[in-house]
Amino acid sequence: MAGIQLERLTKVFGATRAVDGIDLTIPDGEFVVLVGPSGCGKTTTLNMIAGLEAPTAGDIWIGAARVTDWEPGERSLGMVFQSLALFPHMTVFDNIAFPLRIKRVAAEEIARRVRTVSDTVHVGHLLGKRPATLSGGEAQRVALARTLVVQPTVFLMDEPLSSLDAKLRVEMRTELKRLHAALRSTFVYVTHDQAEAMTMADRIVVMHQGRIQQVGRPLEIYGDPANRFVAGFFGVPAMNFVEGELRPDTNGARFVAQALGATLPGQSIVAGPASLGIRPEHVRLADGRESWPATVSLIEPLGDETLVFLDYGGPASLVAKVDAEEKLAVGDRRSFTLRLDRVLLFDGTTGGRIMG
Ligand SMILES: Nc1ncnc2c1ncn2[C@@H]1O[C@H](COP(=O)(O)OP(=O)(O)O)[C@@H](O)[C@H]1O
Ligand SMILES: [Mg+2]
Repeated sequence: MAGIQLERLTKVFGATRAVDGIDLTIPDGEFVVLVGPSGCGKTTTLNMIAGLEAPTAGDIWIGAARVTDWEPGERSLGMVFQSLALFPHMTVFDNIAFPLRIKRVAAEEIARRVRTVSDTVHVGHLLGKRPATLSGGEAQRVALARTLVVQPTVFLMDEPLSSLDAKLRVEMRTELKRLHAALRSTFVYVTHDQAEAMTMADRIVVMHQGRIQQVGRPLEIYGDPANRFVAGFFGVPAMNFVEGELRPDTNGARFVAQALGATLPGQSIVAGPASLGIRPEHVRLADGRESWPATVSLIEPLGDETLVFLDYGGPASLVAKVDAEEKLAVGDRRSFTLRLDRVLLFDGTTGGRIMG
């Protein structure tokens, strides 16, 4: 078992700062998800932890050891990649046994460990098969088993579910979480999928342009984002943003935008350009002390809830997530309110969060 520490970790490829001086402490046994859009430096970070890529600057610690210059094989890590790379000519048993055979582990010990690991990831009944005859989910489990069998202290996974179909991906999320609960090893999991990050992580590390934007528990990141990038990255559909201006007001601050103005009690007075952020589930179809008229321009039933696009006179429509029972038709005139306690404000220039 071991935790991981990254100190000012940097990787430069030519003119690209792929990873730009990140500091991160991952306690032993934590399930950490690195998440961010394509090209933000996730894979490069993971490869540096694995020893597959040498840092330009900075240090990596695993447990008490500074491993920055160590070979991958010396770091006792298990890595699962996006592409499975099972050996097609070998049985499932031989695929899982392969890393142990390289280490010249005795045959009875190999048989015992392959059996234990196969039970853990539910592939015990597939040991005689060849990879070509497996479903996507089965092949993914075999790849996991092959990593597990060497009993690594740290698991590194780079988008391991991205080749699976949507339903299987959701099932495997649950299985990986169970596996982590059973093993209590340190998991570092990379994905561009915010839903995977939210559902699996003990802690999420949000990356953008080679830098860490925020580190926090899933609901912290969702409810209390550090900046506009993080706010917009999490949540489906995405948070609504309205561009406007903040002005001092006797009750706090007043946000003023085209066709929408709201007094935000308790907000400190920072005058200047600002964006108001509000999640779809915090827009209500109701009259209130401050409500605004809108035309329903589009309706998207999700089954359990319904998305309603509201044209209120601003430059873009506002999306509300409402009860599926709500009676609605395109063209309806409806009033909406915002849950003012859930409104977030961002600096109109930097995108940084303006805290009340
Ligand atoms: N071997 C490489 N040579 C040059 N540029 C690279 C190399 N690997 C990654 N990059 C660049 O570094 C940035 C981060 O890449 P990567 O870590 O793969 O991002 P992610 O995994 O988040 O999609 C990207 O701009 C990518 O083009
Ligand atoms: Mg990647």
